[in-house]
Amino acid sequence: MAGHKPWGGRFTQPTDAMVEAFTSSIEDDKNIAMEDVEGSIAHATMLGEAGIISAADAETLVLGLEAVRGELLAGTFPWDTALEDVHMNVERRLAIHVGDEVAGRLHTGRSRNDQVALDSRLYLRRRLKEIEGHLLALERALVAKAEAHVDTLMPGYTHLQRGQPVRLAHHLLAYREMFSRDRGRVQDALRRVAVSPLGAGALAGTPHPIRRERVAELLGFSGVTTNSMDTVASRDHFLESMSASAISMVHLSRLAEELVMWSSAEFGFIEIGDAFTTGSSMMPQKKNPDVAELVRGKAGRVVGDLVALLTTVKALPLTYNRDLQEDKPPLYDSLNTWSSSLEITARMIPEVKFRVDRLQVALRKGFVTATELADHLVTRGVPFRDAHGVVGRIVGYCVAEDKVLEDLDLMTLRRFSPDFGDDALEWLDVERAVERRDLPGAPARARVVAALAAAKAELA
Ligand code: ARG
Repeated sequence: MAGHKPWGGRFTQPTDAMVEAFTSSIEDDKNIAMEDVEGSIAHATMLGEAGIISAADAETLVLGLEAVRGELLAGTFPWDTALEDVHMNVERRLAIHVGDEVAGRLHTGRSRNDQVALDSRLYLRRRLKEIEGHLLALERALVAKAEAHVDTLMPGYTHLQRGQPVRLAHHLLAYREMFSRDRGRVQDALRRVAVSPLGAGALAGTPHPIRRERVAELLGFSGVTTNSMDTVASRDHFLESMSASAISMVHLSRLAEELVMWSSAEFGFIEIGDAFTTGSSMMPQKKNPDVAELVRGKAGRVVGDLVALLTTVKALPLTYNRDLQEDKPPLYDSLNTWSSSLEITARMIPEVKFRVDRLQVALRKGFVTATELADHLVTRGVPFRDAHGVVGRIVGYCVAEDKVLEDLDLMTLRRFSPDFGDDALEWLDVERAVERRDLPGAPARARVVAALAAAKAELA
């Protein structure tokens, strides 16, 4: 296959077959085939406009590339594994359509180093926009579920111990905040992705009077990269997107973990619909939250993808090194996994049914209003630390007597402190406890309703 080598002139021997297979990136490159053609169409168009090749040749190249694109779309493109990568495959196929001479002019002023940099930027832009859409859908699903549960109270947890009562909507909107920030990170990443690297050449640009800005304009990029060596050597735009992916997968994993716990008999807070659960091959009673478990599990892989690429890049001298071909498999895995995990979670959320009765039982059993009782004493002039001690002793008494706070009467409370007021028992009401938390970001009804409205306005 030495004859197919675009650099064939220097070589007299064909490449070893195993080297050919080892260095090939064809299977991975199938992800960026459409982008490779799109980038070449822009490049050919610019070459013609700038008079670097004739207008007729430019037109022939564009028509030929469109034919190649048609084959890729139809699935009839004949991939040749003897050709190292997507760039050579497209160029050879183009030659079949338009002849060697015209096809041979396409690569004027371009290297595969800036070409692959362009293809992967186009790819990233496409995938990040798709992921932005999935994030929006997930946020909307969470907001819809929250809207249905503004008046459902539940224990909020710290240390996985019941802490203080909150609205279920508040808990769900906490995740909405995380995914909204993830979306912000996607938008940030997109800004730095959408600049054209073409013109960097192999590393030092090109003597031909190419028009870099024109290529950027044709591709809908906001501008061009500023240093040719940085352009072919750097992958921090990959790393940035993969960091956003890893962070977001960790958010998905925490949500998934709660769905797994909540669907256990021990919590019994939710039931996940049949379409999003699976059975056991041996235990007939099982209804397993596999989707949530897999999302949780896949988060580990996506964190690994980020670490893999950070490690690949960390000791590379400038500029391009073939190591950088190892940038794309973790990128693809990271984005594919993030995208599908977001999509399936967004579809699962509407299938989650909350057991309001079970949430109410949980509210009663966990001393979730103990802080309220202490705060009541504070309003009566008792220093918070002393009030905390008094209520701690009351809780100890309840535990010993197998009681909950709501079982106590005023007389009993006053045995622990004479400062309890006549309205002390009202402070044990969970609804009032939540309503007293009326400040920005807190779970009082009006605050949650406002947060919902703000979220909906943002997502509209
Ligand atoms: N397959 C290569 C990559 O992904 C394309 C660029 C090849 N450049 C080169 N000088 N061999 O990085």
